[in-house]
Amino acid sequence: MPVRFQLNGVLIEEDDVSPSMTVLDYLRDTKGLKGTKEGCAEGDCGACSITIQSALGRVKTVNACLMLVPQLDGMSVVTVEGLSAPGDVIHPVQQALVENHAAQCGFCTPGFVMALYAFTQTGETVTPDSVHEAIAGNLCRCTGYRPIVDAAVSLGSKAEKVIPPAIDQSDYYTDGDEDFFAPRSLGHLVALRSDHPDAYILAGGTDLGMRASKDRQPYGQVISTANVTELNQIERDADSVTFGAAVNYTRVLPMLDELAPSFAQLVRRIGSRQIRNLGTIGGNICNASPIGDTPPCLIALDATMIAHGANGRREISSDEFFTDYRKTALVPDEILEAIRVPNPEPDLIFRAYKVSKRFDQDISAVVGAFALKVEDGIVASVRIAFGGMAATPACAPACEAALLGKPWSLETAVAAGAALREDFMPLTDFRASQGYRARVAENLIQRVFLDTTKEDVPVEVMAL
Ligand SMILES: Cc1cc2nc3c(=O)[nH]c(=O)nc-3n(C[C@H](O)[C@H](O)[C@H](O)COP(=O)(O)OP(=O)(O)OC[C@H]3O[C@@H](n4cnc5c(N)ncnc54)[C@H](O)[C@@H]3O)c2cc1C
Ligand code: FES
Ligand code: FES
Repeated sequence: MPVRFQLNGVLIEEDDVSPSMTVLDYLRDTKGLKGTKEGCAEGDCGACSITIQSALGRVKTVNACLMLVPQLDGMSVVTVEGLSAPGDVIHPVQQALVENHAAQCGFCTPGFVMALYAFTQTGETVTPDSVHEAIAGNLCRCTGYRPIVDAAVSLGSKAEKVIPPAIDQSDYYTDGDEDFFAPRSLGHLVALRSDHPDAYILAGGTDLGMRASKDRQPYGQVISTANVTELNQIERDADSVTFGAAVNYTRVLPMLDELAPSFAQLVRRIGSRQIRNLGTIGGNICNASPIGDTPPCLIALDATMIAHGANGRREISSDEFFTDYRKTALVPDEILEAIRVPNPEPDLIFRAYKVSKRFDQDISAVVGAFALKVEDGIVASVRIAFGGMAATPACAPACEAALLGKPWSLETAVAAGAALREDFMPLTDFRASQGYRARVAENLIQRVFLDTTKEDVPVEVMAL
């Protein structure tokens, strides 16, 4: 079956491109739509921003450089060329950028136009803060952001909403010796995994997409989880919330806001809106990076990973899931089906802190996640996990032991911070030195104490 999608209002049936071709290459080289730019080819600059929307979904801005053409199946795609009305009447977003003198060389401008177009479609309240969040994934090197933010604020959220047509999706696309499977059910996904143990499992592709965009390597066989119904559900019962492994960050956020607001705050700093619209918690977990942001939070919250393979379903505790550097407890015929997070008890204190060089769009040097209960001034239970401190995201047992049963005081926090030296011997890399990581992790224990007990002590300084 061809890949079918609408491109700037025209139905395309594509059956002659490699499934490893990026959407950016496709738009520029096959369709001649050169308004979509290539800056970094790794999801960082936003020059390649386009929007996609399914018939039932919201308009999403995404990085075309990280997506593969078959990921467009069933979508309505809009590029900067698709925004002008007949007669070359420019779109209100473009007009606002012109009127606010918000472009100099113009290289970044199509990306900003598309990010802001998507923003106006979301119906969010337009404030400088929400605009900043919406364009945090778009870099401009010469104009400066103030006129761009002014242009966005001047727009309000008046944009006319567009409902795209429903387009039948295919569950298989092939070209040459490459295959792209897009199963719709868990049963089909698991069967495909069993039949093709070497195929790449693709969720949002914000990690895996680098193979095509940066390394320029074909994938051979890909099994996409994006259309699997069971993996796209969020279910809550009296005890827990279960997130399907293919639910993207944007969809996860409202539930995390309720469950653990500090976790939600951290997820809002994962990449950019473009990345969060595609990237999934499941991908973050299975990528098994020692500096992935969600695993320490999931470990501290005592989450359970639900794996599914040829022999059925099994549950793996989050603190046993990461077995070695970039290795997980999944066996070759298994996929991650879901992540179950217990509902935090009302008196649970949960905090997650991400330490990185920039606030937005940066990978962590260290992530600390802390879940504790204090009863009558004494630490009654505690789970602590760190990322960036070892080859895997990991618990901090010595630190936990230094807190459990002790008075919740600054002295205890300082002693528990010192105990972290027994738990971790971090590495030096280009993000941070060993000494910095050790010190900052130690200080984060004090931060939890100050954050949760001393309202008058500021624990974070934000740029205005
Ligand atoms: C510009 C940029 C910024 C980023 N910023 C951050 C950041 O701030 N913090 C952070 O933690 N990460 C960040 N990332 C990394 C990435 O966005 C996250 O790790 C994301 O969660 C990956 O999810 P995905 O759905 O895109 O995974 P994919 O790329 O689709 O897959 C990632 C890995 O998981 C495997 N996989 C996916 N789903 C399953 C499944 N159900 N079962 C088995 N295996 C599976 C894939 O085979 C692959 O090995 C960033 C990436 C980019 C490009
Ligand atoms: S080219 Fe930079 S984000 Fe795609
Ligand atoms: S206008 Fe030149 S990079 Fe933004």
